[in-house]
Parts: sequence; C-alpha cells; structure tokens
Amino acid sequence: MSGTTLDAPLVPVSPTTRVLACATDEIGEVAADVVATVAPDGVLGVATGSSPLALYTALIRRRDEGLSTERLRLFALDEYVGLDADDPRSYAAYVRAVIAEPLGIPNDRVRVPSGSSPADAEAYERSIVEAGGVDLQIVGIGRNGHIGFNEPGSDAETRTRVVELDESTRRANAEHFDGDLSLVPARAMTQGVATILSARRIVLVASGAAKAAALRSALLGPVTADNPASFLQRHRDVTVVADLDALREDR
Ligand code: F6R
Repeated sequence: MSGTTLDAPLVPVSPTTRVLACATDEIGEVAADVVATVAPDGVLGVATGSSPLALYTALIRRRDEGLSTERLRLFALDEYVGLDADDPRSYAAYVRAVIAEPLGIPNDRVRVPSGSSPADAEAYERSIVEAGGVDLQIVGIGRNGHIGFNEPGSDAETRTRVVELDESTRRANAEHFDGDLSLVPARAMTQGVATILSARRIVLVASGAAKAAALRSALLGPVTADNPASFLQRHRDVTVVADLDALREDR
C-alpha cells in the first residue's frame, strides 16, 4: 500500500468494511492500489464527480509506467436524463475524457446509462450481467448519503431506473452548469442500490468535511434508506479510502 495510512478515527459497524484513512493528497494512490488489482481485464464500475479524480490520475500514471488497462471494461454508475452523450457536461463525456481515453480503453468496452425508459434501464442491467458482473465498483458519497444517484428513500432492492434528483444534489452539481441551478437536469438514470451491491468489491472514496456527516452515519449508523450509503454495511467487501476531514466527527 503506498502512502502512509493513518489510524482510522472510527471503526465501522460492518466487519466487512475496512477504512483506509489517509492524507487528502494520498487518496488517489491508496485507492489506486486497490483498484489496479482488477487490471488487466476486469470489469470496473466507475463513478464520476470530483471524489475519484485523484484515483483516475493515479491509474493513468500507472498505465504510463506499464500497468495494462486497455482491456478493462467500464460501467458508469449514472447519467443525467436529457443530456446528449456528446454534451461535455454529460457523464458519458466525463467517462470518455477522464477515464477511458487516458487509460486507452476503446468505446466498445465502455457503458454509460442512456435513455429514460424502463426498457433502457433493463438493458443497462442486462449489459452488466452479460459482462459477468462488476468486479470492483468505485463510488463517491453525496452529502445526503446518496451513492450513484440513489437519493435518500432509495431502498436496498432498487435496480437501474430513472430518479428525480434532490435539490441539494442539483445545487452541489450546479458548478458544472455555470452555477445555474436551472440548467442542472432534474432527472438521472442510475444503477440501483441492489445493482451497486452486486459488485464483487466496492471502493468508496471521500474527502472533505462536507462528507463527514453522511460518511459517519453510513459507516456507524443504522442501515436505512434515509442514508443509502449505509446499505454498504451489507456488502461483503468494502474499502473506504477517505481523508481525516471526511472521517472526523460531524460538524
Ligand atoms: C457520480 C455519482 C455521485 C457522486 C457523489 C459525490 O457518478 O454517482 O454519487 O459520487 O455525488 O460527488 P463528488 O465526488 O463530486 O462530491
């Protein structure tokens, strides 16, 4: 394990969750140590957003140093409804520009949810199953405890579907839409909680005090749809890579 991992300031309820507490600037390398184990040809579930950026940077550097990533298969967690895949604000564009292209993964090995019908959602679920399931799923956590776009109220049985985004989520993401809340799509298609939990391994990355309350109740609190990340307590292999700000007491 690269970097210096510090003693975790909290002990998760679930014995199948391990917490790697590290300095903010070590998150990418520490998470990459875990994620790189699915290379050269595993099925990797990818999150977008800011939390995993350092992880992707670390993977790209490892590719430059010889890690073989071209045969990985990628499945994204979610996508806004109403944004074309060519729109630079779409998650399809993020996955292409930030992950797939720098890792040399061709388009036919990359899947991002698209469309808005139940048939589209079912097709996405099917494509994951046909790939043999996700070997390792990367997730971030929303300030309200969402994973993917499973907002509070999403239960453990949910599968890929279209959801309404919470206003707090749209506000948090408005920075990618010129700060204009009215431009942030109201709906998204997301893998469900059950879809995420069907991955063989899960790595959650989190940094900063804004995530502390959600992360703490996900790891220490009751398993409840009020905090969908708490369902990770039921998974058999979860690694949380987080900085001390994200792991400290609520503030
Ligand atoms: C992104 C996703 C979301 C984000 C979460 C945290 O694909 O599914 O759950 O992981 O909103 O976002 P950041 O990392 O930008 O704080």
